[in-house]
Amino acid sequence: MATVVRESPAAAANPLDVSRAELWSEDRWQEPMRQLRTESPIYYCEDSKFGPYWSVTTYKPIQHVEALPKIFSSSWQYGGITVAGDGVDHLKEGEVPMPMFIAMDPPQHTAQRRTVAPAFGPSEIERMRADTQQRTSDLLDTLPVGETFDWVEKVSIELTTDMLAILFDFPWADRHKLTGWSDRLGDIESFGTVEERQARLATAYEMGAAFKELWDHKAKNPGKHDLISIMLQSDAMSHMSHEEFMGNLILLIVGGNDTTRNSMSAYAYGLHRFPDERAKLESNHDPELAVNAMHEIIRWQTPLAHMRRTAMEDTELFGQQIRARDKIALWYASANRDESVFPDGDRIIVDRENARRHLAFGYGIHRCVGARVAELQLTTLISEMQRRRLRVNVEAEPERVHASFVHGYRHMNVTLEKY
Ligand code: HEM
Repeated sequence: MATVVRESPAAAANPLDVSRAELWSEDRWQEPMRQLRTESPIYYCEDSKFGPYWSVTTYKPIQHVEALPKIFSSSWQYGGITVAGDGVDHLKEGEVPMPMFIAMDPPQHTAQRRTVAPAFGPSEIERMRADTQQRTSDLLDTLPVGETFDWVEKVSIELTTDMLAILFDFPWADRHKLTGWSDRLGDIESFGTVEERQARLATAYEMGAAFKELWDHKAKNPGKHDLISIMLQSDAMSHMSHEEFMGNLILLIVGGNDTTRNSMSAYAYGLHRFPDERAKLESNHDPELAVNAMHEIIRWQTPLAHMRRTAMEDTELFGQQIRARDKIALWYASANRDESVFPDGDRIIVDRENARRHLAFGYGIHRCVGARVAELQLTTLISEMQRRRLRVNVEAEPERVHASFVHGYRHMNVTLEKY
C-alpha cells in the first residue's frame, strides 16, 4: 500500500473534513458526521491533508460502493485502502509499495484471500475456543481488584498479542515484537516525512527478516495449520516477491492487532459510559446476550473508522458525479450510527435487535476475513468478566489514537470492582 501525506494546509480547516486526526483523538467526530449524513451523505471535500476526497457517510451507499469492486477499486496501485494513499504514480522518497491482498482487486485478491481464509473458518474457530477461554481466564486472574491500571496495556494488548502469536505460531517469548511492528506500521499519520517513511521501511524489513526465519523453519517442518504454513503450502502465496510477502504479513498482523485491541478497550469504556446497559449484562448471564453485546460494542466502536476506494471510471453515486481516480472514503463509523438503521446509535444498547448488521467489518468481497476470531476474543472477554462478577470503572478520559483510520485508545486507567 503506497501512501503519501501532504503538508497540512495553512488555511482554516474545513469543518466537514472528517479525515482530520484531531476529530478522532478528541472524540469530536460525531457532530460533523451527523451533519454529513443529514445534509450531504456523499460529500466532496476539496482540500485536506490528504488532498481532495469524497466522504460516504450513510449505510446504503457504502454497501453499494463495496458491492462494485470493478468500479470502486481497492488497489494499492491507485492508493489502496486509506484516505492517505496516493498510488504508484506519486511515490515519494523512501516509499516502497508493499502489495497486500486487502489492497488488491480480483483476480489476485480472490486467490490470496482464498488461501488464508481456511485459517479463520468455523472449524479453526472451534479449535481456538477452549484455548482462548483459558488464556483470557488466566489473564483476568492476574488483574488487581481496586487498584488503578491501564486496561489497554494489561488486557487489550496482551490478549490480542497472544492471539496473533497463536495464529502465526510465532515464537512465544518474542510475541510482543508483533505488537511493536504492528503499531509502527499501521499508523497512517506517521509517514509524512522522508525520515518517517525510512523508519517505517526499516521496521518492515526488520519484521520481514524475522518472518523469513520462521518461514524457512516451517518449510523444513511442514504439516501445520498456522498462517505462515498455510501461505507456504499455497500456489497463490508461496511465490510472492519479498515486498508482497511483507505486505501480506503487515496486513495479517496490523489487521488483527489494533482492531481487536480497540474492541476490547471499547468494552471497558463503552459499558462504563452506559451503566444501565452494563447492569443488563451483570444481571443476565445468558450467552446469547453476551454475543449480542459483542456485536453492539463492535458497532459502537467501529475500530477502523474508514476504508477507501478509488473510482476507476466516471460514475454517478446516489446523485453525485464521481470522476475516474477520485478517492472515496467509506466512513463505517458514521454508517454504524446511521439513524435509519440504528436508532439512537450513539448509545450502546446491549440487546439491540439488529446489532449484528453493523458495517465495522466492511461488506462484500473484502469483508474482514478475521471477523470470527475477533468475535470469539471479545465474546470470551465479556463472558469471563461476567463469570468473575467483575466490573470495570474507567478512572479518567482515555487517551485516544490520533488518526482517522484506526479508531481507538492508547491508554485507559481503570479499576476493577466485584459486584
Ligand atoms: C479486512 C475490520 C479483526 C484480518 C477488514 C476490513 C475491515 C476490517 C473494515 C476491510 C473490509 C472491506 O474493505 O470491506 C476489522 C475489525 C476487526 C478485525 C473491526 C476486529 C474487531 C481482524 C483479525 C484479523 C483480520 C483478528 C486477522 C488476524 C483482516 C484481513 C482483511 C481484513 C486479512 C482483508 C480481507 C480482504 O481484503 O479480503 N477488517 N478486522 N481482521 N481483516 Fe479485519
